[in-house]
Amino acid sequence: MKKIGVLTSGGDAPGMNAAVRSVVRTGIAMGMEVKGIMRGYNGLIEGDIIDLNVRSVSDIIHRGGTVLYTARSPRFKTEEGMQEAIENCKKHGIEGIVVIGGDGSYRGARDLSLHGIPCVGVPGTIDNDISSTEYTIGFDTAMNTAMEMVDKIRDTAQSHDRCSVVEVMGRHAGYLALQTGIAVGATAILVPEREFSVESVIAKIMETQKTGKKHFIIIVAEGVGGVEEIARRIEEVTGIESRATVLGHVQRGGNPTVRDRVMATEMGYAAVELLSKGIGNRVVGFKNGNIVNYDIYDALNMKKPFDDKMYKIAHTTSI
Ligand code: ADP
Ligand code: F6P
Repeated sequence: MKKIGVLTSGGDAPGMNAAVRSVVRTGIAMGMEVKGIMRGYNGLIEGDIIDLNVRSVSDIIHRGGTVLYTARSPRFKTEEGMQEAIENCKKHGIEGIVVIGGDGSYRGARDLSLHGIPCVGVPGTIDNDISSTEYTIGFDTAMNTAMEMVDKIRDTAQSHDRCSVVEVMGRHAGYLALQTGIAVGATAILVPEREFSVESVIAKIMETQKTGKKHFIIIVAEGVGGVEEIARRIEEVTGIESRATVLGHVQRGGNPTVRDRVMATEMGYAAVELLSKGIGNRVVGFKNGNIVNYDIYDALNMKKPFDDKMYKIAHTTSI
């Protein structure tokens, strides 16, 4: 391949810029031209495509968000949108595309590959909910942000002898909640993957209260939700003043951590390596300490196990 494109799609994630930088510089080092496709698949449909050189991606490795912007593109799912996207690839001479995003973006990449534009997916989402990889770009930064926020909440919960019920992001998955919950020493972590009852959380609060604990942090995954109601019920039964906080989009921003910058750089490199050999319809992932790649179709059909050992450790150490 002589000319490739790169786009970011779906929810942004810290480290996407590091991935874009890696794709651009690796591509150029391998003798290719690299085009930036703006606002995800929308840029492909609208022909919003820019030239990138090694200096276009200077000064972005440390920045959150994505300099290529991102979007969700319902039009891309239609045959008409797909045809316009293909036309624009032809017009700009784009022979392959690196798609940085989540599972939805991978589906788009699969469809484009089937229509003759080979794509390679790079996992970018704070949720770490992509089955074909143990790690997604943005996860570490989001966890660190959530941890710092909850540390601050703990200060005030401690001063007031309160219970704080905190919702963290993760869409339908509890990976972000589980690791953040361990890192902040939460009394309970509620995730959509495992059943729970508010009454059992209350029982645990009362049990730990007997051993002298006076303030409590409860981490609730977005996929569980209902933090206001959970806080209200805890206060009603235990008499402990309780507050609910939804952390929200603060978790999506900020400078990427070392892990996200390095992982993004490695994954971007691996994606371009594949395209340089004419290989598309693949996704890059991380498994057992190595960068790996899979067929997109296979990747989308994989199941990601929930870490029960970690869930048990969280429960055991939070007494
Ligand atoms: P993420 O990539 O983070 O999972 P989305 O699910 O919003 O985010 O998907 C991003 C974009 O990928 C969508 O706006 C759409 O353009 C494209 N996409 C999502 N699902 C499909 C699908 N089933 N077929 C084709 N394209 C899709
Ligand atoms: O996928 C990332 C994520 O932040 C999820 O954790 C959350 O459910 C969703 O995106 C929020 O989407 P939006 O940016 O559209 O509010």
